[in-house]
Amino acid sequence: MADLTSLAYYIETFGCQMNENDSERIAGVLDAAGARRAASVEESGLVVVNTCAVRGKSEEKLYSYLGRLRTLKRKRGLIIAVAGCVAQLHRDGLIDGRPFVDIVVGPDNYQRLPEALAPSLAQGRVFARVLTSRSRNWDEEARRPVLRESRVSAYVTIMEGCDNFCAYCVVPFTRGREKFRPLRAVLEEVEALAQAGYREIQFLGQNVNIYRDPATGTGFPDLLERAAAVPGPEWIRFITSHPRTFGPEIVRAMARSPKVCRQLHLPLQAGSTAVLGRMKRGYTRDEYLEKIRLLRAAMPDIHLSTDIIVGFPGETEEEFRETLSALSEIRFSNIFSFRYSPRPRTAAAKLPDDVPLDVKRRRLIEVQALQKTIQAELHGTFVGRTIRVLGTGRSRKDEAVYSGRSEGYQVVNFRAPDDPVGRFVRVRITGYGPYSLRGDALAFEAPRLVAPPRPAALG
Ligand code: 5AD
Ligand code: SF4
Repeated sequence: MADLTSLAYYIETFGCQMNENDSERIAGVLDAAGARRAASVEESGLVVVNTCAVRGKSEEKLYSYLGRLRTLKRKRGLIIAVAGCVAQLHRDGLIDGRPFVDIVVGPDNYQRLPEALAPSLAQGRVFARVLTSRSRNWDEEARRPVLRESRVSAYVTIMEGCDNFCAYCVVPFTRGREKFRPLRAVLEEVEALAQAGYREIQFLGQNVNIYRDPATGTGFPDLLERAAAVPGPEWIRFITSHPRTFGPEIVRAMARSPKVCRQLHLPLQAGSTAVLGRMKRGYTRDEYLEKIRLLRAAMPDIHLSTDIIVGFPGETEEEFRETLSALSEIRFSNIFSFRYSPRPRTAAAKLPDDVPLDVKRRRLIEVQALQKTIQAELHGTFVGRTIRVLGTGRSRKDEAVYSGRSEGYQVVNFRAPDDPVGRFVRVRITGYGPYSLRGDALAFEAPRLVAPPRPAALG
């Protein structure tokens, strides 16, 4: 292992939970090689930018951040590494025209970072490296160690990649084809996390519901059941599920286990069957609604969230109205909504991007306004109730206020007499806004964690 003991690193993370988990892998690899984490970009000799390519806007975030790093690099030595989905999408293209970028590293290559950095550090000058080879199969060794950000809730990646090729989506070109982590390794990690006192496990993958163990073919419902059998963590969640392959077996597995949170993120994308067809999503509006009925029949108190795209090529006003009516009908607890943006290599990039920007903007505003009303109404029903909250941190605005999540994944800000981080708390809800609940801690359920939470924040 290369010796990086003189190096301080800083990781900036954009994008989804898998990127957050990948940043924990990057930190693990750098730490194991002797580097230490810096509290800020200013104090670091290496900045790793872990990037997201899913929308044009996500990618632009990288370029503006790189602009700032470039200025800093001019003033003093700094190694700049671009990791994640933009790195994998553009490869050498990222260095062309940006000679200040030293390393481009894709998600299958983080374990090679020390080896790429060593010659630069030894010789005092930087050698550009592009590490974007893909491995077809899951490489468990290459994925360790992981230096986790939270001591309360842990991400566990169980699969990566996507073979769906939705017309708008760049992910199959950044995360590659589907590959599955051995069930044994998943369960070993869950056991280790249980030992370490973690309260919540979040399974990650671009499409977790098609998970199968590479050796035995054991599927996702069994994975959930086996993970729930590990004593310790009390909450289990997973993200993301694809509606096409989300079936009754998973609903049953969720309903059977009280540890699996009554919460599900199920990206709808559009409410019109015609648009869903053009998006190549593989389900109709009615089929999606049927899955929601199934979920609510089995778990009446389940909280649902979704992703919505407005302004996909050819989306008429009538088709867009079907997205609004789907939101009204389903009443999601939370949504993530976006204007369509064409992405390289995708099928939709060949279609005319014909919904004018001002129309996309207006549709997005309409979606978000409707959802805001729905959310406020849903949150209103919580007032006066006492709910279970997992304490995760302190409010940034007020020292005496802590924050946590409900089982339904709502943000809850609450006053507590003692530090509730890592503990389950009974919170009486006294107020709400469209995006969070407010309340007072009535009782602490679980003992304090053995080890205190890590203070340093990643990125
Ligand atoms: N334009 C807009 N939104 C997109 N998403 C994915 N690709 C695009 C795109 N090209 C959204 C989808 C997805 C979420 C992660 O990002 O809603 O579920
Ligand atoms: Fe993209 Fe579809 Fe894969 Fe989700 S399932 S990442 S939307 S291609």
